[in-house]
Amino acid sequence: MTVSTQDRPNDLYSSPYLVDYYDIVAPSSQSVDDASFYWKTYQDLKALRSSTPDDPFVIMDVGTGTGRVLHGLERNAAEVNADFSNTEVLGVDNAQHMLDKAEKTTTGPLEGHVSWINGSALDLEAVMRERVHRNTDLLIFSIGSISHLSEDGQPETFLNQVSKVLRPGTGRAYVSIYDGSLLHKKKDIAFHQPQGVTEIQSKVFPHIVYRESNHRGDLEGNIKYVKFDLKAVNNEDQTILEKNHISMKMRQWEEDELVSLSSKTGVTFVERIRGAHETFYVFKTTA
Ligand SMILES: C[S@@+](CC[C@H](N)C(=O)[O-])C[C@H]1O[C@@H](n2cnc3c(N)ncnc32)[C@H](O)[C@@H]1O
Repeated sequence: MTVSTQDRPNDLYSSPYLVDYYDIVAPSSQSVDDASFYWKTYQDLKALRSSTPDDPFVIMDVGTGTGRVLHGLERNAAEVNADFSNTEVLGVDNAQHMLDKAEKTTTGPLEGHVSWINGSALDLEAVMRERVHRNTDLLIFSIGSISHLSEDGQPETFLNQVSKVLRPGTGRAYVSIYDGSLLHKKKDIAFHQPQGVTEIQSKVFPHIVYRESNHRGDLEGNIKYVKFDLKAVNNEDQTILEKNHISMKMRQWEEDELVSLSSKTGVTFVERIRGAHETFYVFKTTA
């Protein structure tokens, strides 16, 4: 692949090198083990009504990234020889390079049942507008990704959008808040934040290493600014192929803040479920 040296946008998701780096350092399904949780949830919800080709069970994974959660469902399905007949799966993200990798790495029972869609968590109605089946039975916003909705009012906009696309009655949205993004957490959860200059070997591109430096995380009010520099370097001739100044605004949360926020939106809070590193907040549409 040829990528010229250039300054990139500030996020972690907008080039093939960043996508590769993200998948190396981000929490994996092994480290957070949410895949089996979502698999059980899918089965429990699927049992509530009989889905048909005309009215399939719809899973929407918002901020799907490289499809980690959906691929986890795929692995669980493969283990018990289940297929996704009468299930339609949507992986939605606003970073096309993440979706490209998600699609490329879909090789199991999801094939033919999943659509990877470039869309926004803030406009889920637009995602559904073109689709035949518009009622989502299981909506997932995994692993604290809601922290990306860091501008005032964005979490509420998201929840209002959820209320527009969720199946009335049985549809459920599972929104995760990561323990590491709690403002008054009891213990520190380690994020990937190494000291000094660290080098990580690419898993995809031969001879490419990622050099990261200047990690810092400045907290201002309820926003954490996650900043570091990342270079993609050809280890053979030391050519810098890409230079990134990562700077991401991540919303931090008071415990149960999402519940009080939700009361001003079109969803109703159902329950909270403690995971190993996160809390899943469950919502349904307000009748
Ligand atoms: C922390 S990653 C999580 C990826 C994946 N869901 C997982 O669990 O590994 C957050 C993802 O949310 C996406 N994202 C951030 N803001 C978004 C928005 N407004 N709409 C859609 N996707 C968004 C990013 O592009 C990124 O892929």
